[in-house]
Amino acid sequence: MSKLTIAIDGFSSCGKSTLAKEIAQALNYIYADSGAMYRAVTLYMLDKGILKDGAFIPEQVISALDKIDIAFKFDASLGKSETYLNGVNVEKDIRNSRISKNVSGISAVKEVREKLVEIQQNMGKTGGVVMDGRDIGTVVFPNAEVKLFMTASNRVRAERRYKELKEKGENISLDQVAEDLQKRDYIDMNREISPLRKADDAIEIDNSELTRASQLETALAIIKKQKSKLLSKA
Ligand code: DC
Repeated sequence: MSKLTIAIDGFSSCGKSTLAKEIAQALNYIYADSGAMYRAVTLYMLDKGILKDGAFIPEQVISALDKIDIAFKFDASLGKSETYLNGVNVEKDIRNSRISKNVSGISAVKEVREKLVEIQQNMGKTGGVVMDGRDIGTVVFPNAEVKLFMTASNRVRAERRYKELKEKGENISLDQVAEDLQKRDYIDMNREISPLRKADDAIEIDNSELTRASQLETALAIIKKQKSKLLSKA
């Protein structure tokens, strides 16, 4: 049987990327972080002054899209892929609260989504991909063989993100992190185009109380079950 496509969606800081990376490693699949692509576009718009204080003129964003090239390159010494914007490694520059605060607005622009969805669909053409995001099971890969939808309590999510940001040396309070997360969820769920929602055929995993190991075990069991279901139909 050829390799499957695995779609993982969910709210911010639900541990989607941790799980997606671990599944990809366990199955020898490619991991693709769709959020990194929206973050890279946001970084470009901030650096060019097109996005300022959370505001932008959609036409300016749209006309800048042609000048943006986003790619993932595998770094063998790190054992993972990193995000490149116009040939420059931006992996570190896209993972901070400056980007997190601005990314939801940019990701609500239809043309931004069209450009990135096309790249994402090309990455998934051959199967063997685990992609995480907000619209992977609903829009990018509506026919994915496995769809997971991750949730966790607001408290757990805010604490996780706070810890991450503190480790990177950011000076931010837990309350501020919680507020930013709520805002991001609201925009992601209420935007007109491809809002975050659980696909009808997605299986939900609430990892508030799960260890990383048991979360991975749960997901691999779901994938195994789905594989044998598909094999018995073949
Ligand atoms: O997964 P993340 O936190 O890195 O994603 C950053 C933002 O990008 C998220 O708040 C919404 C947007 N996003 C999206 O709209 N669609 C995706 N498939 C992935 C991310």
